[in-house]
Amino acid sequence: MTHADHDLSSILDECAQEAQKLIGQGHVADYIPALARINPDQFGMAVCGVDGTEFTVGQSDTSFSIQSISKVFTLALALQSPGAASVWERVGREPSGNAFNSLVQLESERGLPRNPFINAGAIVVTDVITSHFVSPVLQILSLVRKYANCDDIYIDEEVADSEEESGHRNAAIAHLLKSQGNLVADVDDTLAAYYRQCSIAMTCRDVARAFLPLAAAGQHPLTGQTLMPALRAKRINSLLLTCGLYDGVGNFAYRVGIPAKSGVGGGIAAVIPGHYSICVWSPELDELGNSLAGTRALEVFSHETNLSVF
Ligand code: DON
Repeated sequence: MTHADHDLSSILDECAQEAQKLIGQGHVADYIPALARINPDQFGMAVCGVDGTEFTVGQSDTSFSIQSISKVFTLALALQSPGAASVWERVGREPSGNAFNSLVQLESERGLPRNPFINAGAIVVTDVITSHFVSPVLQILSLVRKYANCDDIYIDEEVADSEEESGHRNAAIAHLLKSQGNLVADVDDTLAAYYRQCSIAMTCRDVARAFLPLAAAGQHPLTGQTLMPALRAKRINSLLLTCGLYDGVGNFAYRVGIPAKSGVGGGIAAVIPGHYSICVWSPELDELGNSLAGTRALEVFSHETNLSVF
């Protein structure tokens, strides 16, 4: 195992202390009314080693809304679905340089979303699932439960309903995709599945465990199962590095140097291939929609452990 193991607990304490200093300086997501009500003064972090070790600090067992972190799970599902062959014909693999919910490129690039992690790309990925499975939401939930090795993971229907009621921008994206020929299922069915995947509630410990296969070349160290081929894990990690934090991805790579995926619930899941999967959560976001304290905690983690992909 790595040199850092013996003192990871004290490093996590330091991550938490540094992160705590930023609480009060960001804003919780308020464009989804159910998320606006969350107590901003929360922080948790969990680190899982590929050898099965776990380290946690703070509120690592408090459930939060994973939001866009779900886009990694749905990509994994789409790539093993009967619709796998169509995924990379319908979605690109380039950073967008635009906000996660922007419509601008979609119009000028004729309905081919830049990548599977912006909303437009994720809606297409969810459409692949929706058009190939009878119960797409159950398929998504069961994949997440298998990856997290936890059958208690659930969809927060209050958050899902709130997203559905306020989701005019996502509805605009989905209808634009439909008009451009890049949405197969009924628009409302695809959106319903999309809102439900975003509304999955998980703890930091759950998310870190669920990202272990990406750290362990597709194997799940906790169950011994092969969940994806090693090449696919490598490719998803590459997409995390280039597209996982939207228009903040370059700055995040500069500061942290670890592939990661953020969500507007304040979670960030990160992967250090061959070593660790990490989840940090703190609800206040920066202006780009990424957790402010969470980013800082990961920056401290990578400095203190000297672990990154660079
Ligand atoms: O569709 C949305 O806007 C949200 N359900 C998810 C966006 C999100 O998490 C972006 N992440 N930073």
